[in-house]
Amino acid sequence: MRNGNGAGGAIPRRNETAFLKELAELTRLVEDRLKGLLAVRDVPEHRIYESMAYSVAAGGKRIRPVLFLAVGDMLGGKIDEMLPYACAMELIHTYSLIHDDLPAMDNDDFRRGLPTNHRAYGEAMAILAGDALLNRAFELMLETAMKQGADDAGKLSRGIRAAHCMAEASGVSGMIGGQVMDMEAEGRNLDMHLLDRMHRLKTGALIRACAVSPAILCGADDATVEALAGYAENLGLAFQIRDDLLDVESTDEVLGKPVGSDERNGKSTFVTLLGLEGARLALASAGADALDALGPFGEKAAFLAELAEFIATRRH
Ligand code: IPE
Ligand code: IPE
Ligand code: MG
Ligand code: MG
Ligand code: MG
Repeated sequence: MRNGNGAGGAIPRRNETAFLKELAELTRLVEDRLKGLLAVRDVPEHRIYESMAYSVAAGGKRIRPVLFLAVGDMLGGKIDEMLPYACAMELIHTYSLIHDDLPAMDNDDFRRGLPTNHRAYGEAMAILAGDALLNRAFELMLETAMKQGADDAGKLSRGIRAAHCMAEASGVSGMIGGQVMDMEAEGRNLDMHLLDRMHRLKTGALIRACAVSPAILCGADDATVEALAGYAENLGLAFQIRDDLLDVESTDEVLGKPVGSDERNGKSTFVTLLGLEGARLALASAGADALDALGPFGEKAAFLAELAEFIATRRH
């Protein structure tokens, strides 16, 4: 454990209204673009479009694309140019939730305040909608890289590197690897080392990519990428510890997904291993480490520091 009095503590915070206003603005940009991406087509196989749009439009906090845009904005990138990549990340995340809820996985009936995708569209369509959202994300990133990079080789290469970073983060060395650990740990008790690894992979990897990919798009130097990766790895860990706590402490209505899912499935979580108080301390520690990593950015990182605090204290 650490005391959290590092460099990040020195980043000046603005008032809460300024943070919430910026959060709402970035969220709105994401929502508008997502709507445009998921239009239902008038074709015989229209139900797959409906199923994909259903889970994305159901809502969600949009933390990942907001983080993506905020990092890019801090580094001087153009929000408009980064928006397709940020939205691709939300499509990947939504796919992971659809599959996470399937009967073969966490077997949950509610997500984002609505029946889960397989409850609404059936299991086969839910599997395909997840697959399709993942593919759509890569179509979107690659078509963006090709378009924006048509007469700028540097932009083309940065776009492809950003997409590669997101592919790695969603794959076996990232989110899927973590989901495998989660499944294989059901009914067993992981030790702290393995639990930490599982959280960093299943949730941390995508969140890390939301900070590293925009840095790649902006052509940031290695030290900048490393500092942002350190911030986001700890942010991702804090995010999943908070998720474990909410699974025990919240209500279905507030959360929009069933509480008690972890216990029903015999999951290993920070709460089962450390107890409520221990999990809260681990959350505070990861949150403080995230803030410390922002030290080199000074006041430019105010929004990212506020976002870390928002995530560590979120109620849903
Ligand atoms: C839920 O993520 C899954 C985890 C990785 C813990 P979020 O809490 O970001 O879910 P939405 O997008 O807001 O629905
Ligand atoms: C899921 O973790 C992480 C994913 C990669 C989707 P959880 O299984 O704890 O997420 P929730 O609680 O169902 O949202
Ligand atoms: Mg799960
Ligand atoms: Mg789950
Ligand atoms: Mg959970």
